[in-house]
Amino acid sequence: MGKAVLAYTGALDNLICIHWLRTVKNMKVVTFSGNFGQPEYLEEVGERALEAGAISAHIADMRERFLTDFCYSALRAGARYESGYVLSSALSRPPLAQELVRVAREEGCTVIAHGCRGIGNDQVRLESYLSTLAPDIKIVAPLFELGLKTPEDDEGYARRWNLPRATNRQAKYNVDQNLWGVALQLGPKADPWMEPPDDTYIMTRRISDAPDKPTYVDIGFEAGLPVSLDGERTGTMEMVAALNRLGAQYAVGRLDVIEDRISGLKAREIYEAPAAHLLHQAHTALEELTLDKDIFQFRDVTARRYADLVYRGKWFTPFREALDAWFDVIEKPVVGTVKLKLLGGTSLVVGRQSPHSLYRSEMLSYDGDVEKTSRRRKPGSESEPGSRPPSTRPGGPA
Ligand code: ARG
Repeated sequence: MGKAVLAYTGALDNLICIHWLRTVKNMKVVTFSGNFGQPEYLEEVGERALEAGAISAHIADMRERFLTDFCYSALRAGARYESGYVLSSALSRPPLAQELVRVAREEGCTVIAHGCRGIGNDQVRLESYLSTLAPDIKIVAPLFELGLKTPEDDEGYARRWNLPRATNRQAKYNVDQNLWGVALQLGPKADPWMEPPDDTYIMTRRISDAPDKPTYVDIGFEAGLPVSLDGERTGTMEMVAALNRLGAQYAVGRLDVIEDRISGLKAREIYEAPAAHLLHQAHTALEELTLDKDIFQFRDVTARRYADLVYRGKWFTPFREALDAWFDVIEKPVVGTVKLKLLGGTSLVVGRQSPHSLYRSEMLSYDGDVEKTSRRRKPGSESEPGSRPPSTRPGGPA
């Protein structure tokens, strides 16, 4: 009798996985549930796994590591996929895979199982991570093996085997929530013409319910990473939680897009990511002020590639490490503060300041002075406005 570790969220489809692994595959099942900031109370989720016949239920608080090592790296890289998806789901898969492998080793499991159905991005990512980290462990997707494709199929299985039924919300939407954002799928048949019903969104208020008086928030950065809110040094979790609350209140951070999946199919995707939206917006605004032109423009290319590699499940690759090394260098001068103004459904950058600002007001004018200045300059005597000789780069060679 072998032993399997199951990536477990507590949803009905996961109970089906436990049931199938035990009764059909005749395996002992241990579960792993990570707290990435989803609303479910994981002790209860663990209890349910034990009731369903798991022999042990592992729970880990992943929040700090998920934000610091994964979300903040992507933030520093400006990584947003296509029309602005902040990759909240995609970024949670590499640490999830690491933990599944850790538990599998600890418990002596020969199988890692997960509740993906063989039709989407999540499965591609998780399986590619697991096979990179633990090529010797077999990966099993029970729902795929069973041919269960929809929540209705799950209901049928649950009825047949007398398993507890799903709640309405679970059945209606496919929700994947963590501290970096929530992904909401209206269903595979969602018509791109149809406006999402009001109850689709779960984090943010309706725009019509947002306060009509604006509010301001100052976000401070060091080396491209957020470190303070309104002048106060703020830890990662506290920062993200506070900005999620604020953004949600002002109905900021909603996204409704058609997205190119890994498979090449286009899908309708709905996201809410108030904190990640505000942080990316502020971060880019500070880069505009502090990065010189060539770097700023090339950083766009690298940001796209970073987003793409996260999306395609390529975190554990030399390419990601090389891109991070590039951002280690270019983000050094991204230091300073950005002031955002929030009002009914939007956020605007209204101020930015930096000790490494490349903005030279004394050289700017609207009546041709810039031209005069540059014509007077002897060739090679001084750098162009908006660039800096590499030797003065903060932290660079002296
Ligand atoms: N389209 C997004 C992505 O591929 C969201 C996936 C959400 N997953 C889910 N099980 N609801 O990253």
